[in-house]
Amino acid sequence: MSERFDTDVLVVGSGPTGATTALALATYGIRVQIVSLWNWLAHTPRAHITNQRAMEVYRDLGIEEQVHEQATPWEFMGDTPYATSLAGEELVRQRCWGTGDKRKSDYLVASPCGLVDLIQPKIEPILLKNASERGATFTFNTEYLRHDQDDTGVTVFLRERLSGREYSVRARFLVGADGARSKIVDELELRVTGELARAGTVYTIFDADLAQYVEHRPSILNWIVNPNTSFGEIGMGLLRAVNPWTRWIAGWGFDLSKGEPNQSPEFVKQQIKTMIGDPDIEPEIIETSLWYVNQAYVPQWSVGRVFCGGDAVHRHPPSSGLGLNTCVQDAHNLAWKLAYVIHGFAGLELLESYSVERSPVGKQIVERANLSRAEYAPLHACLRVDGASQPVAEGIRRFRDPGPEGQAARAAMLDAIRLKDTEFNALGVELNQRYESTAVIADEDLKPEKFSKDPVLYHQATTRPGAKIPHVWLVDKGGQKVSTLDITGKGMFTLVTGLGGQCWSEAVNALDFPYLKSVMIDSAGARDLYCDWQELREIEESGALVRPDGVVAWRHQSAPSDACEAENLLASALGRI
Ligand code: FDA
Repeated sequence: MSERFDTDVLVVGSGPTGATTALALATYGIRVQIVSLWNWLAHTPRAHITNQRAMEVYRDLGIEEQVHEQATPWEFMGDTPYATSLAGEELVRQRCWGTGDKRKSDYLVASPCGLVDLIQPKIEPILLKNASERGATFTFNTEYLRHDQDDTGVTVFLRERLSGREYSVRARFLVGADGARSKIVDELELRVTGELARAGTVYTIFDADLAQYVEHRPSILNWIVNPNTSFGEIGMGLLRAVNPWTRWIAGWGFDLSKGEPNQSPEFVKQQIKTMIGDPDIEPEIIETSLWYVNQAYVPQWSVGRVFCGGDAVHRHPPSSGLGLNTCVQDAHNLAWKLAYVIHGFAGLELLESYSVERSPVGKQIVERANLSRAEYAPLHACLRVDGASQPVAEGIRRFRDPGPEGQAARAAMLDAIRLKDTEFNALGVELNQRYESTAVIADEDLKPEKFSKDPVLYHQATTRPGAKIPHVWLVDKGGQKVSTLDITGKGMFTLVTGLGGQCWSEAVNALDFPYLKSVMIDSAGARDLYCDWQELREIEESGALVRPDGVVAWRHQSAPSDACEAENLLASALGRI
């Protein structure tokens, strides 16, 4: 008799990682249950910058429009001032998140999706609602205690926080999406490499109508160069728009060696008023909290049937806005693999590729986010005179001085602000991930990839196995534009061919796998009228096999001689994944 499972996958945590995992699994027809410690989803703004890769996941899962309805649009995100106060003198202004004229087209050609700004209390309900509608179940006020795993499944021990009742759930797999203090990572004894709480920040949510100071230069981040908020690596205060332009967060660094910083309402209000710089504006404080800068990652993300993702395995500061975005992509990578194993389309070995593919990304973003903080140093040097009795005030005076010292400071600012593009216009950091694993079959004669431009700042489109399929606009039967990302994904493997790849399509039909389809570019539903696919595909009108997460799994340079050869090649490739 086959074993009975209460659910196929139990997910601990309803944050971006857990909720996206549940949504994807439910979309792929898998029974999934989420448990979460608290009575509801995130109640503070936390993550907000949503990059194109995360938006592509939302598009693939059919929630992109709902995200746009709730989000602050791209054009409000990035005309970012560095000023003595919001109402005060502007020292320099930076175009961020690809909103500047020079960079916008790089972002537009890289993806069918733009960026948006969407806070966690708005995205999490969208994920939860759609996951629930597709069959996922959610259990709040439930604490994960521990688990036992064996050859066929995982027994997970839980406690209802309201009643204290303890019970267990039997699942085929367990996902630890339980955040930066992950009990599951500890229980699995996964090694955490790096340093936790190496710096601290005060964050205060407040209400004030500041439209008059930002509408002409809309930005969700506003940097305040002021002696009162100058502590730490970033060394500036931050006014972050939560709901443009009436709800905000004020943030500033504090000295960990001196214990907890002053959080009294009087002090916090005075800090905010200094940062706004308009004595007539009275901010209404909603909540003050502290958060700490981590620089730690976990090299191995899974043990047997238990898989960890999100902040549980990559812990880093918000700089570069990579946290939620990486969580969403972890979830997308893991969910189709779990679904394929549960549906019987693939063996358990497929799941080993999850950690192999995603843990290098985790390490990369932890290092990047922390480097983004360190790279404020040259900017400080332009605006600060170390050793002066009032270093910041003296630095600002010098920066505006017409004499040689002022000229030198302004000249140095050009390099300093361009360096910050590696945080604020880092399209390559966001899009250039390449996977090497058993779920990717490299070309036989693969040479190391050469980037034609800076791989931090610029995206490089390629069909090399392990990269995401390049986005280009094709044209459907009705003449509407449709992305290469739209004709792939959605839980299926897709063999992308050209008109000359007829025998590939015949091979896909002959194989008749429920998870495999073919798309012939330049056929009626997907015309390459702009010739963009031809320019980027790097193979002849042959086959590129694209995984459900949009990653190229394998490609073949030229069309095989007949359908029989194509079938053998394709079956062999799929058999190796
Ligand atoms: P998350 O911490 O969100 O969720 C953990 C879940 O596990 C919760 O549901 C909790 O209830 C549950 N849980 C924990 N222990 C449990 C237990 N024992 N039993 C049951 N449930 C348990 N990112 C980004 O991409 N762009 C950005 O702009 C920012 N900005 C930003 C600003 C600030 C101030 C912070 C603090 C963070 C960001 N981030 C960010 C990072 C982002 O917030 C973070 O990466 C994600 O919330 C992590 O999502 P997870 O789902 O992994 O964990």
